[in-house]
Amino acid sequence: MIEKIRFQYTDDITVINKQQFEAHIRLYEGYVDKINEIDRILTNNPERDKANATFSFYRECKRGETYALNGVILHELYFENIGGKMKMPDQMTIGQLEMYFGSFNNWKSDFIATAKASRGWAVLCYDQRSYRLRNISLDAHDLGNIAYSAPILVLDVYEHAYFLQYADNKTEYINRFMDNINWEVVCDRMGIY
Ligand SMILES: [Fe+2]
Repeated sequence: MIEKIRFQYTDDITVINKQQFEAHIRLYEGYVDKINEIDRILTNNPERDKANATFSFYRECKRGETYALNGVILHELYFENIGGKMKMPDQMTIGQLEMYFGSFNNWKSDFIATAKASRGWAVLCYDQRSYRLRNISLDAHDLGNIAYSAPILVLDVYEHAYFLQYADNKTEYINRFMDNINWEVVCDRMGIY
């Protein structure tokens, strides 16, 4: 069973206000409830004998399983990497970004463009197949991820992430996010990979 992480709104979170934050947290908690429900249903379920790729109960459970679980994981990574006091990454992280993107500003402009181009998530990740950092685009929790990669910076660009506060001004939300990255958390993740 997966436990919910209790995220708190703090003064150093500037990208979203408390109302937007709390609405978003409710959505995250819904994903935790759903993956736990699916895990329970999938335990020794007799419907597995009728599994079918066109339509079946088992197919719906399997679609929901990765959608809900990635929804949990990506939201936790997102809420962890906003706020904080560190305004810029450390030299190790800047060096890694320079190595794969030419410069910090090149990485940043590519990440912003990736976010604008995405319907679900923009993720800076370490691609463990080609041994490099990439900014990748997910159109849904279960659509666009690299099977063998480690997430380092995660930005939620689903409309539910910003619409309450920013309406249709997605660009403003992305810009405010870029100024409110918790680099301490991101540098720690970078250090692992
Ligand atoms: Fe979200």
